[in-house]
Amino acid sequence: MISTPLTIALSKGRILQETRPLLEKAGITPTEDVAKTRKLIIPTNHENVRLLIVRASDVPTYVEHGAADLGVAGKDVLMEHNSPELYEPLDLQISKCRLMTATAVDYQEEPGRRIRVATKFVNVAKRFYASQGKQVDIIKLYGSMELAPLIDLADQIVDIVDTGNTLKANGLEPREHIADISSRLVVNRAAMKVKHETISEIINHMKAAVEVAG
Ligand code: ATP
Ligand code: PRP
Repeated sequence: MISTPLTIALSKGRILQETRPLLEKAGITPTEDVAKTRKLIIPTNHENVRLLIVRASDVPTYVEHGAADLGVAGKDVLMEHNSPELYEPLDLQISKCRLMTATAVDYQEEPGRRIRVATKFVNVAKRFYASQGKQVDIIKLYGSMELAPLIDLADQIVDIVDTGNTLKANGLEPREHIADISSRLVVNRAAMKVKHETISEIINHMKAAVEVAG
């Protein structure tokens, strides 16, 4: 039994299914089906350990503020959040994809002209284009970024690419690679100190599970 109270924030959506077996390997089993339940706080086989089911992009916020001790989030979300309060001890090697720029197939940049960029990764995009010395106007969207160049809302997008099917289906193509993405275990820095033994044990079990899976 884990004796220290622990709260773990999990992303609902695609990461959740892949996280479950890794948690199981760390001896943590939810008492109900996390994919089906409408509950947002889910007890586990340990009286002291509970799971929070939150939006993918909210995981860093819960962990940063200590509302959760641990969390699982995509590197894209962590790059966007960019918090020094989050310790990132383990690459879980799940939900792998790439963060890229993309444009219409026939798009060409005009030198000296500001580029309109639609994305939900506003901070990542600002840093990326600044590193390239390009002037951009960022347009914040919350999803379906691929639509923006099609209806002339933007010249370029910054988004996740996996198979490339969504880009292709919309007449777009990937251009610049920004980062390789996978999901990470994140830990609140204060919790890492106060609950060191328990959290280290969980990290080690999950690490072993990742190595076996890889
Ligand atoms: P939110 O609801 O907070 O906007 P979301 O809709 O992006 O989040 P998901 O689609 O479940 O949430 O994605 C969660 C994570 O999975 C992303 O942060 C990214 O790391 C990864 N991901 C997103 N799209 C893909 C994809 N097509 N293939 C593989 N991994 C992906
Ligand atoms: C994600 C991402 C891309 C798509 C990429 O969208 O935003 O649109 O997957 O995957 P692909 O390269 O395999 O086509 P998601 O399905 O999560 O929808 P969203 O627009 O709600 O983020």
